[in-house]
Amino acid sequence: MGKQPKSAVVAGRNLLFSRRIAVIAFAAALVGGGIAWQTWREAAAPRIGGPFSLVDGKGKRFTDADFRGQYLLVYFGYTFCPDVCPTALGELSAALDAMPKEQVDKLTVAFISVDPKRDIGERLDEYGKAFHERIIGLTGTREEIDAVVSAYGAKYRFAGDSNSDDYSIDHTSIVYVMDKDGQFVTQFTHNATPEQMLAKLTSVIR
Ligand code: NI
Repeated sequence: MGKQPKSAVVAGRNLLFSRRIAVIAFAAALVGGGIAWQTWREAAAPRIGGPFSLVDGKGKRFTDADFRGQYLLVYFGYTFCPDVCPTALGELSAALDAMPKEQVDKLTVAFISVDPKRDIGERLDEYGKAFHERIIGLTGTREEIDAVVSAYGAKYRFAGDSNSDDYSIDHTSIVYVMDKDGQFVTQFTHNATPEQMLAKLTSVIR
């Protein structure tokens, strides 16, 4: 066989070229579709949770990574809270008291104080423990607190003069339940009864 006619070579090149275009277009469609799917999923279910770095009353630092391998229940509040926090932690601790020990041992409750000015030292460490031994108190700088509050989609607002010691803080009252990988599983408010909290937690914790 001699040389291929020039036109056949050109046609072959064109075919190869258009195949390449098709492959690239297909790959682009896959990536685009994946991004669109991801965006849709995120829009449908806003992500709850994320990295955090906080300290306990002794100044020991804890990050979200320290709780991998166990369930982490996250609650935002402050120890001077007159009613909402005591109600939420009281109901939650009643649920924990009724839970099988092997399940309780797999979880930690992080009581994250949005009031680092007053919630320091032993006050922060002992507040949660007074309700249940699995409840630890954490707080941080205003930036660290705002980062974790925002990651969980929670809110808080000072009421009164925050420069005095006589102020209160309105805050989201939700217990967020994160799994062993730090992924959001479920949540409940302080209006849930201990029985409802217990039912939800026992069905989730493995
Ligand atoms: Ni409170």
